[in-house]
Amino acid sequence: MQQAHRTVVLSIAMATLAAAVIWGCYPKPVGPIGPTGKKLTWAAMDKDQRRVHMRNAVLPRAAAIFQQWRPQRYGTVDCDLCHGRGAAAGIFDMPTDHLPRLSGEMLLGPELEKHPETTRLKLDRLVPEISDALGVKRFSLITRRGFGCYSCHLGPTGPLFGN
Ligand code: HEC
Ligand code: HEC
Repeated sequence: MQQAHRTVVLSIAMATLAAAVIWGCYPKPVGPIGPTGKKLTWAAMDKDQRRVHMRNAVLPRAAAIFQQWRPQRYGTVDCDLCHGRGAAAGIFDMPTDHLPRLSGEMLLGPELEKHPETTRLKLDRLVPEISDALGVKRFSLITRRGFGCYSCHLGPTGPLFGN
């Protein structure tokens, strides 16, 4: 009994530790070296550094994903793929009206029904790769925060989930 109890306590402690390690990793330093000699996180970068990071780290990965999916349609992509016409004017606010508004349903029922292919592509590749490129935590159903669909798309009446 004593032994079993200790095992339970130990495994809870281990799980908590593992969670702390996983959660503790974000945000990741993915940018250029900052004033303290350490690499900057996405949040700490200024607008010029963000532009450069988008060009070097985000655009190539997004381009590869979209081109593999529909080479005809996404043969050449640039900043306006996600930022729309604002990109040319230096407006990079996200989420953006340039992309279709999504339903706002957390479990993506309508999206999976109407656009199963693009929704799977986003879930399996785009969200993981872009959140990784930005060094930010992925959307979690528990916290309802993190990088996900609504980091790029608006909901029916505006931004959702802390975006
Ligand atoms: C695959 C989609 C995608 C592409 C392509 C893309 N961006 Fe972004 N961009 C985003 C997202 C998403 C954010 C918001 C990230 C966040 O803060 O959560 C963002 C944010 C930015 C910001 C920061 C805006 C702010 O308010 O601080 C800048 C600047 C920017 N992008 C520039 C660019 C440039 C320049 C290009 C082309 C080289 C580009 N982006 C291509 C998705 C994209
Ligand atoms: C990094 C930005 C980004 C993220 C994150 C993102 N999308 Fe998109 N989404 C896009 C872009 C870019 C397009 C294509 C726009 C175009 O072709 O002009 C798009 C298009 C779509 C479309 C329209 C497809 C069509 O053929 O009309 C749907 C539906 C969609 N996304 C759903 C989702 C869902 C669901 C998620 C989350 C699982 C998601 N998106 C995450 C950028 C994003």
